[in-house]
Amino acid sequence: MSPNQPEIEALFSEVREVTPAPAFTAQANATPELYERAERDPEAFWAAEAKQRISWSRPWDSVLEWELPYAKWFVGGQLNVAYNCVDRHVEQGLGAKVAYYWEGEPGDTRTLTYADLQREVNKAANALKALGVGIGDRVGIYMPMIPELPIAMLACAKIGAPHVVVFGGFSSDALEGRMIDAEAVALITADGGWRNGKVLDLKAAADVAVGNAPTIKNVLVVRRTGHDVPMTEGRDHWWHDVVDGQSAECDPVPVDSEHLLYLLHTSGTTAKPKGIMHTTGGYLAGVSTTHHYIFDIKPDDVYWCAADIGWVTGHSYIVYGPLANGTTGVLYEGAPQFPEPDRWWSIVEKYKVSILYCAPTAIRAFMKQGDDWPAKHDLSSLRLLGTVGEPINPEAWLWYRRAIGGSRCPVVDTWWQTETGMILITPLPGITTLRPGSATRPFPGIGAKVVDADGTEVANGSGGGYLVLTRPWPAMLRGIYKDPERYLSTYWRRFPGMYFAGDGCKVDDDGYFWLLGRVDDVMKIAGHRISTIEVESALVDHPAVAEAAVVGRSDPVTGEAISAFVILKSHITPSDELALELREHVAKKIGAIARPKMVMFTPELPKTRSGKIMRRLLRDIAEHRTLGDVTTLADSGIVETIRVKAQSSEADQLV
Ligand code: WTA
Repeated sequence: MSPNQPEIEALFSEVREVTPAPAFTAQANATPELYERAERDPEAFWAAEAKQRISWSRPWDSVLEWELPYAKWFVGGQLNVAYNCVDRHVEQGLGAKVAYYWEGEPGDTRTLTYADLQREVNKAANALKALGVGIGDRVGIYMPMIPELPIAMLACAKIGAPHVVVFGGFSSDALEGRMIDAEAVALITADGGWRNGKVLDLKAAADVAVGNAPTIKNVLVVRRTGHDVPMTEGRDHWWHDVVDGQSAECDPVPVDSEHLLYLLHTSGTTAKPKGIMHTTGGYLAGVSTTHHYIFDIKPDDVYWCAADIGWVTGHSYIVYGPLANGTTGVLYEGAPQFPEPDRWWSIVEKYKVSILYCAPTAIRAFMKQGDDWPAKHDLSSLRLLGTVGEPINPEAWLWYRRAIGGSRCPVVDTWWQTETGMILITPLPGITTLRPGSATRPFPGIGAKVVDADGTEVANGSGGGYLVLTRPWPAMLRGIYKDPERYLSTYWRRFPGMYFAGDGCKVDDDGYFWLLGRVDDVMKIAGHRISTIEVESALVDHPAVAEAAVVGRSDPVTGEAISAFVILKSHITPSDELALELREHVAKKIGAIARPKMVMFTPELPKTRSGKIMRRLLRDIAEHRTLGDVTTLADSGIVETIRVKAQSSEADQLV
């Protein structure tokens, strides 16, 4: 047992609070005064931050235009995001500073300084121009975690072409839908990437998707794994052929503050992913400001956000926030526990990482492997830890702080969403007294509260409700691409005048926010949003399936795991092989993260008299709980039948 154990136990059972260490407070970027100043005049607060952190090529005329539910920030201002993230640092003499330490899964490494990044971004931007990509054109990006991924994003930003990044673990179907929705003109991909010692064949998936997305005229392919890939004449180009010979100079295109910077698709309550729109000035101000205060960024920090750039966490806190702040970051290509469960800790030790930001699901997976793996490494460089993506259970929080942070690092539990673009509820390190499991308080200037079903604010300490946001913030989404009606109905109709986040939350006696998970039909699998309906559609897409319902049930490592209840077509006989086939079918249609952990065949599903599937009851069954209210069921015998079947078939299928 570690010598720190008793202190933690005391924390857990008695105090359940961690007060800031005075030494940390003394050097912290944040001050308590931020809250008061921002609350007094939020617009003035954001204007001051935007002025200080960003170089504008034209100043704004007004800070905020707010016509609910549409916000415009820094209206009339012009800037270029790539200039702000790269060029100006080089101009200011930081060319030799490391922008990224990159490590591939096989152990190969690259170091990119800000000067290197500038040269590579400029060449890539010139290559895009040579392929006919212009301002406003959408460019798809489907890549492993290699330096060309942020380079490609910045190259797009440099010429004002919005990017549409699709997580490299997604299937060709997922890529195709997103490319069609975005009407992308080009796609940047790679031959493949490394994951758990195997090659992920991205080019093969990209070929299928591009074949069905006719707006894509050009495909740029980075050589990463070196395996043989087919290249389509006239459409596909090797990155090294097209990019390497370009000029290393490229003037940034100044764009309006409200110019579309990127689309990022996220799961909602229908099968079609939503193209979340993020624009330029407010977004960059929001991510750079939060990154500065919440991660307490200092010039000599080595900061590692261990997410994939394909998710919003990577967009905001691997690429844009950190680079705007001139930070040195770490990028790692592969699986967290490859080849051994201490891969991450060897990276922390090797690069002397001082700030680590990751997901609770990763923390739980490491916790399961025990203290010995991190204990093999010198983790004394760490001075701050962060989490994001789902609620973190206090036990995992305390383990993270002790086994990884040596009981000396503040832990910032940060709540936000693809839609919010930036962290909104979080401690400020050095200022906030921490409570394990609570994201604590809204960031300065953010209006957040918890309301009951009627939209009335729930008093502190009086139970749970729905999290809402009461005023605009700079990095907020500007809409759903090509779907204003869905934007209104998803976020703004439930509680008039307030943004509905879709999360349950309670506020304790002292005003601390405790996030309780999603209240809609969105699951959080290993920290990633997956809607029940997307998985159901993928199941029904299989020729043997007549109907399907899926629910997330709690899982000790991944937070939630998918349980699928499947009705087969009448002539099909259920079998273990078929269950396996269905699981693989979903993985193929959506990606491995959506593969159901359990598939159960059932003759019926519990439905209301109006035909709505009662997922709540399925969740009870999956969790082995006593069933909740069944009075609205059309056929009350059916749940009992499913429950008995579930108990007998489940044991064999769990992996
Ligand atoms: C959940 C990820 C509790 C929440 C940045 C939210 C969290 C959804 C936390 C957004 C947290 C994120 N505590 N829950 N600290 N952070 N969530 O769009 O349910 O992938 O609505 O963005 O993740 O997921 P998304």
